[in-house]
Amino acid sequence: MTPTTPAPERPGAQQWVPPDADVDALRAAATGCRGCELWEPATQVVVSAGNPRARAVLVGEQPGDVEDRQGIPFVGPAGRLLQRALDEAGVARADVYVTNAVKHFRFEPRGNRRIHQTPELAHMVACRPWLEAEVAAVEPDVLVALGATAGKTLLGPSFRVTKERGRLEERDTVAGRRLVLPTVHPSSILRGPEEQREEAFAALVADLAVLARHLAG
Ligand code: URA
Ligand code: SF4
Repeated sequence: MTPTTPAPERPGAQQWVPPDADVDALRAAATGCRGCELWEPATQVVVSAGNPRARAVLVGEQPGDVEDRQGIPFVGPAGRLLQRALDEAGVARADVYVTNAVKHFRFEPRGNRRIHQTPELAHMVACRPWLEAEVAAVEPDVLVALGATAGKTLLGPSFRVTKERGRLEERDTVAGRRLVLPTVHPSSILRGPEEQREEAFAALVADLAVLARHLAG
C-alpha cells in the first residue's frame, strides 16, 4: 500500500443492525450500512431471499455482478446452478433462506467490466453482524456454508471446505451452536475445468442431499 492510499475504515456493521429485528427490518436497515468500504462502489446492498422461516439458511460469499444490479442474491449463473442442485437433491424452496457472508459486491473495475474479487477476512468480520442477526431472526435448524468465505465467516479462518464438506455436524458458529453442513460454492464449479463440471455438480448435489434427508427425517 502506498502512503497516498489511506487504510479503509471498517467500523463493522454492528451499529447499523437493529436489535431483535425480523428479516424485513434487517433488509431495510442494511441499505444504510457503512460498516466497511465495500458499500461505496457497489450499486446496492444485497441481503437475502427465500422463506424468512426456513429450516435451512444457505450462506454464500457475496453478491455477484447480476445480484448487485438486481438487489437479489443468487439470481446470476451461480444462483441458477445452485437452484438446479437443490432441485436435484430434493430440497424444497420453502425450506430455504439464502443469504451471503458479505452483503456488498466486491469487484475491480476493468474497462467497462467488473471483475469479482474475493472478500478479505476483514470484510467477513465487518459484515458478520448482519448474518448473526439473520440467523437469530430465521432460527433455522441447519446452516449450509457454500464455500470457503461462508465457512470462514461462520466457523473461523481455519475452515477448509475440501476437508469438511458434506458433514452435517453440530458446531460452534458465530451465531451460536448450530447444525452446520459445509459444501462447495456453486461458482467453484463454473470456474473449474469443463471436463470436471459434471462430477463436481454431482458432488454438490450429494452434499445437498444430506440436507434433504435431514429435513425429511
Ligand atoms: N455468489 C454468491 O455467493 N452469492 C450470490 O448471491 C451470487 C453469487
Ligand atoms: Fe456493511 Fe457488509 Fe456492506 Fe460492508 S459489505 S458496508 S459491512 S453491508
